[in-house]
Amino acid sequence: MAKELRIGMLGCGFMGRAHSNAWLQVNHFFEREHKPVLKAVYGREQDRAQLEKFAKMWGYESIETDWRKVVERDDIDLIDVCVPNHMHHDCVIAAAEAGKIVVCEKPLAMNAKEGEAMVAAVEKAGVPNMVCFNYRRVPAISLAKQIIDEGRIGRPFHYRATYNQDYTISAKVPQGGLALWRLDAKVAGSGVTGDLLSHSIDTAEWLNGPIVRVVAHTETFIKERVHAETGKTEKVEIDDACMFLAIFANGSIGTFESTRYARGRKNYNTFEVNGELGAVFFDLEDPHILQFFRYADPKTGQKIEDHLTGWQRIHVTAFEHPYMKNWWVPGCTIGYEHTFINMFADFLASLEGGPKFQPDMRCALRTQRVCDAVLQSAREKRWVDIPPE
Ligand SMILES: NC(=O)c1ccc[n+]([C@@H]2O[C@H](COP(=O)([O-])OP(=O)(O)OC[C@H]3O[C@@H](n4cnc5c(N)ncnc54)[C@H](O)[C@@H]3O)[C@@H](O)[C@H]2O)c1
Repeated sequence: MAKELRIGMLGCGFMGRAHSNAWLQVNHFFEREHKPVLKAVYGREQDRAQLEKFAKMWGYESIETDWRKVVERDDIDLIDVCVPNHMHHDCVIAAAEAGKIVVCEKPLAMNAKEGEAMVAAVEKAGVPNMVCFNYRRVPAISLAKQIIDEGRIGRPFHYRATYNQDYTISAKVPQGGLALWRLDAKVAGSGVTGDLLSHSIDTAEWLNGPIVRVVAHTETFIKERVHAETGKTEKVEIDDACMFLAIFANGSIGTFESTRYARGRKNYNTFEVNGELGAVFFDLEDPHILQFFRYADPKTGQKIEDHLTGWQRIHVTAFEHPYMKNWWVPGCTIGYEHTFINMFADFLASLEGGPKFQPDMRCALRTQRVCDAVLQSAREKRWVDIPPE
């Protein structure tokens, strides 16, 4: 039976759009009992023009410039946290205490200490919760997970991830304000580590299990930038680039690289896992392709004796591929926005008795701990162990 799921959206920027679109679309492509209704949206008073336009375009019933008013409303079931990282802690805890279902954008928090309090709050309140590491729901990445879980690459030796962009190379790019709050450590918590590597770490631990040790180096190439909101030149305190080595619990070793100074790269989120029997490679700039190298038969462990050795480019659009039977006919691609629709479809299924949704906040806290360890390692110039759960 149809059940209204009344959404209170915190944030009307990039993720506010991606999430609003996904809430509106999910019932068109996935059969779910819950029917999202866009009730209220929050944006800052200084962003009122954006907020009003946003509410009109996406069909929100009302707007608020005080996020607490959205959380307190009795006619809202779910709080969707799409504001910058420094607000996640307060918004999630207030929403949990108000008994709301809580959806939160990544990274979970500014640091693991905040994350622990958030996990405690949602678990104490017993409210369903999730964190939006949406790349797990890229069909090609889900297929990589399936291939690995089926034993097709065998024992993994190497995990290699990059998440590279190029939009902050100019010293004229300010810090602070819409979108560019990412360069302001007081609002973002960290630079590429929390923003981009948190995605890579979530994907890596999902595909290859826990990371137990890291050693990192970070760099801030441009030391001062004008702050868009104060107009003053201020020190840049985020990591512009980060590289780290990782040891996984399964004995494989990893390299992770992220920067916003890789000229030419826009959203170069890649990973490769090399195993004894095979390998997989993915690149978000080519999102519907999964590359798979098949060397040996997982049942026998023996080399496959034919003349077709080589990388296969699997066009992940067939009905038998993850999520694709809900979309178009084979060969027709889906895109970035669909990862959010797939994610909410899985979350609604979990509310309706389906498999438990992951990552929840407890799972995302692990990613946060790895991010913290990476930053600590870079500061202290030494290996850092990730504390077990
Ligand atoms: N899952 C993903 O791939 C993905 C992609 C982008 C962003 N995110 C996450 O989503 C969250 C929101 O990011 P976004 O890109 O939508 O942000 P944005 O800058 O586009 O929008 C920010 C929103 O928060 C409000 N706000 C409150 N305090 C603010 C402040 N101090 N500075 C700027 N805006 C402020 C603004 O009014 C606006 O509505 C962040 O936690 C970010 O890490 C996730």
